[in-house]
Amino acid sequence: MGPEETVRKAYSAMSEQYIGLFDDGWEDRTHPEDMAIIRDHLTGLSGPVLDLGCGPGHWTGHLHSSGVDVTGIDLVPRFIEHARQTHPGPDFQLGSLTDVDLPAGSVAGVLSWYSTIHMAPVELDRALAEFRRLLQVSGVLVVGFFDSAGEVATFGHKVTTAYHWPVAVFAEHLAQAGFVELQRVQYALPERPDRRFAAIAAAAR
Ligand SMILES: C[S@@+](CC[C@H](N)C(=O)[O-])C[C@H]1O[C@@H](n2cnc3c(N)ncnc32)[C@H](O)[C@@H]1O
Repeated sequence: MGPEETVRKAYSAMSEQYIGLFDDGWEDRTHPEDMAIIRDHLTGLSGPVLDLGCGPGHWTGHLHSSGVDVTGIDLVPRFIEHARQTHPGPDFQLGSLTDVDLPAGSVAGVLSWYSTIHMAPVELDRALAEFRRLLQVSGVLVVGFFDSAGEVATFGHKVTTAYHWPVAVFAEHLAQAGFVELQRVQYALPERPDRRFAAIAAAAR
């Protein structure tokens, strides 16, 4: 079984629990820095935005309600079914974020919110190359991922094996893929000091 099939099966097996995390009020439970980096960089762009690895579609719906022309794409059929039922405005497609059926330079923004966390470094580079291909010059990527104080390493994520990354190393992969960093966010929660969160906004050069 390849990595995408592993991820699809793992999320499909837990799809209802994952969907349940984003019921009413999820925005109020989301860290303000996460809300801000997505809002500040992905609203008001002059062109379409893709939410790649959109899961149940909550960020896609949120961006759509902020006036963004946004499409959500995910590998998991149940997530796409739920997203279409729950968020009737945006388009949702079943598919892979590493192989999007759109021309190069055709989008103004990409959100990859924790959707590359299960990717080994070589797969991450493939995903970043696809994000860069899709974006027009100066288009913006916002990517969320798990931060690591040590090295790039796997950890026991409750869905399937995930990676955490020193932010500086993740930023190097972004630079090599053709991005210029605009902003980074890093934080830990008092109740989860062992888990660190990160996000980077970067422009395609
Ligand atoms: C941790 S969840 C994040 C979902 C959503 N972005 C959120 O913020 O809750 C990871 C998501 O990425 C999706 N995903 C992982 N690899 C993918 C790929 N190659 N193509 C499309 N979706 C992928 C999974 O199916 C899952 O929905």
